[in-house]
This record gives sequence, C-alpha cells and structure tokens, in this order.
Amino acid sequence: MTLSPPAGGPSRSVSRAARLRGEPRLPGDKSISHRALILSALAEGDCLVSGAGDGRDVQATAAVVAALGATVERVGEDGLNVDYRVVSPGADGLHEPDGVLDCRNSGTSLRLCSGLLASLPFFAVLDGDGSLRTRPVARIIEPLRSMGAVLHARRSDTLPPLVVIGSNRLRAIDFTTRVPSAQVKSAILLAGLRAEGQTTVREAVATRDHTERMLRSRGIEVRREPATSSRGGPVAWTLDGGARVRPVDERVPADPSAAAFWLVAGAIHADAELTLRAVSVNPTRRAAIDLLVRMGARIDETAAAGAPTDVAGAAADDSGEPLADLTIRSSELHGIDLGPDDVAAAIDEIPILCLAATQARGKTTIRGASELRNKESDRIAGIARGLRALGARIAVDGDDISIEGPTPLVGAPTQTLDDHRLAMTFAVAGLIASGSTWIDRADSAAVSYPTFFTELERLRA
Ligand code: S3P
Repeated sequence: MTLSPPAGGPSRSVSRAARLRGEPRLPGDKSISHRALILSALAEGDCLVSGAGDGRDVQATAAVVAALGATVERVGEDGLNVDYRVVSPGADGLHEPDGVLDCRNSGTSLRLCSGLLASLPFFAVLDGDGSLRTRPVARIIEPLRSMGAVLHARRSDTLPPLVVIGSNRLRAIDFTTRVPSAQVKSAILLAGLRAEGQTTVREAVATRDHTERMLRSRGIEVRREPATSSRGGPVAWTLDGGARVRPVDERVPADPSAAAFWLVAGAIHADAELTLRAVSVNPTRRAAIDLLVRMGARIDETAAAGAPTDVAGAAADDSGEPLADLTIRSSELHGIDLGPDDVAAAIDEIPILCLAATQARGKTTIRGASELRNKESDRIAGIARGLRALGARIAVDGDDISIEGPTPLVGAPTQTLDDHRLAMTFAVAGLIASGSTWIDRADSAAVSYPTFFTELERLRA
C-alpha cells in the first residue's frame, strides 16, 4: 500500500531501521539552559553559559533576557548547542522592555520569566504562539499576586498573553503548590530572591530541582526540608530575600528528556546498541531511566568519563548535577503500573514511555496523568491518536491511559499537533514500524532538539 503524506505543514517520513548503533549527540538540558540565562541576567557581571540547548524554546528565553537589558551574545554554536556570553547590569539595572516578550512555544520561558518580572518594577507583557496561549497561567498569577505583583491575563486571568507589573517591594510567602510543577516553584523562588523576608515553596512530590541547585552554586542559601535529596514525598524549599546572585560560568549537561527518546529506541529495536554521554541523572530527572529499567530495559549506567566530581565523588557538572554515560541494548520489555507520582517525575517522558509500552509484554497503566493535557498539546489525546494510527492498543479513561503489548507497528500518517515530544515519539516509532511512518510538522522537534532527525538518520547508517 502506498501512503501519501498527511496535509498541513512540512512532514517527514521515517522508515524501519535494520539496526541502530552509535552515540547520538544530545542537546544541553532545556530546563538548565533557561535557568542559566535567567540567573545570568539577575547577576551583575559576565557569565559564560556553555553547551546550552539551541532549541527554539531556549532561544525565546535568551531574547526575553536581552529585551530586559542584558547583553546576550552567541559566542559558539554547532547547530545543536550554543555558548552564550551574558553581560548583565544586575537585577537593579534591568529595564522595561519596549515590546511584547515573545515566549514562542515555551511554557518554561513564560512561567520562569513571570517570576523574574514580578520582582522588577515595570510593565511587561508575555505572549507566545497559539499553543502557548492555551497554557494555564492562574497557577503563577495566584502566588505572584499574593507577593504583591500585579498580573492580568486573558479569559479571567487564566490564559496568556500575561501582563506583569512587577514591584521591588514584594512580600515573601509560604506557598503550597496545587499541582506538581517545577515551573511554578521556580517562578516563586525567583520572585522570592528580591522579596522582603523568607519565601517557602512546599510541594507534595519533589519536582526537578535545578533552580535550587543553580541558586546555591551562585551563592544563595536555599534550604530543603527534609534535608535528604532522594526523590519522592513532600518537600519544602526556603530562601531569604535580598541576597545577591553571583555571576558564574556554567556548562549545561546533556538533557535526560532528550536522551529518553534514544533509550526507548534502543530498548524496543531488535538490533540496537546506543550510548549517551554525560547525561544529567539528577534524582528529580532520572525517572524515565528507572521506569525503563523496571520494564526490563538493559541500561548500563557509569559515571561520566572526565566530568568533575561532586562532594560525594560522583561525576557532576558545575551546579552539582550528577552525570552519567548510559548504554542501552535491545531489550525484552514488560508492562508496569505508573501512578501520579511517577507521572510527575517523568512528566516530559510519558509520550515516549507510551511507545515503549506498545512493545512491552502485558499491560502498562498510567494513572493520574491530567497534567499531560496542559503541555504543548493535549498529550493524552495526541499520543493515543498517533499510536493508535500505527496499530497500538491504547485506551484512555479520563486521565488514565492503558496500553496492551506487544503490538507490531505499521507505518501510517501521524499528527504531532506541533508538539516536539509527539513528533520525536512518532519518529522513534517509525524506526520499528513496517513501511513509512509520516510525521506531520516534524519541524516542531526543533523546539528542544534541532538535530534530532539528523541523529536519527545517522544511527541507522
Ligand atoms: C519544566 C518543568 C515541567 C516540564 C517542562 C520543563 C521546567 O513543567 O514539563 O518541560 O524546566 O521547570 P511543569 O513544571 O509545568 O510540570
């Protein structure tokens, strides 16, 4: 049967790979790249951010920071990653932007920059593309307002564009997040840096802790309760307002969420061996690795060669991010059950884990995945539609997903909904599906992984 490409936007086809070998190059971690740019803008002086991901999301944050008065220079780039030199007058020297701040497709830019802007005494408007305008903002408006900033948004303060009129006389708050969200936590901590008093953010389950680690490496005391750093359980983060953020140079580690695409590709392909170098295996980011191992994936993890070590002697980057080299080989997977805490911990990797589940023996269930509906697309609907088109057995009941496997996949047109993680998931599916798998608007992968399709073609060579 000959399939024609789906209508709407530049599409790509991916055909089955006979074998997969090699070391895919990974983008610098997206979460850390955003934070490194924002914290560099808050620090007076000169910072080098090397190996930042050069996806469109991080470029959006770089443009926001530049519009506020920091000088942001690209001093090195290789099509995948970029070295930025940021020279900032410090928080007190930043100024009102002349125009609307365009966050493009990036929820992280929107939420984190809101926290920064809440503590700066001027008017700013944050906006983005059609997808960003559907992302909820009430979750940041509520805490930042209670700190004393003025915020307004469309549709009764629920959707962007978002207006922020900041203040340099914010009050500290003690806030419990309603949904597990590192973006909300980080926005409050960023605002708290310049607030009067002690700001505490409490979360029911620990979300990614890059802001906290990076603040510490810039001289800010961030206290954690309980003090242990393992994942799971409630946690509270506290900092005192008024301390100065120091300028530091930072090397961004490889992105574990990008690595997850190749871990699944290697696990589900019958003849695969792939190695991923110097990936962040931060306990708050490694859930996809651990879930894949629970499913039976053969992943070898060794401390990254040549990386500096942290206090405990583990390989670590400048902010104390633990790093590892990961090798994945073809694996016999079996189904597992994921609860809401697993979803929170692997929030960006659930789509690619759903693909893994289609090749796992037995049933995989994912319960309490409602936050997936608030991402770049409704990822529950999008992943179910795309994987079903390829022949997977996937059922959705409210915010729960169940997948029966293993199912042979058959190439077909898939719809990415302009969502980078769906585009990359369907492309990886194409490596094991018979025939051609069409990915519409495949270019959306460049939001986080500009060379994804180049890597994919190189691995099959
Ligand atoms: C991010 C946090 C997560 C994640 C996003 C990046 C961050 O969002 O999905 O890709 O860098 O803080 P939420 O905090 O909204 O879950």
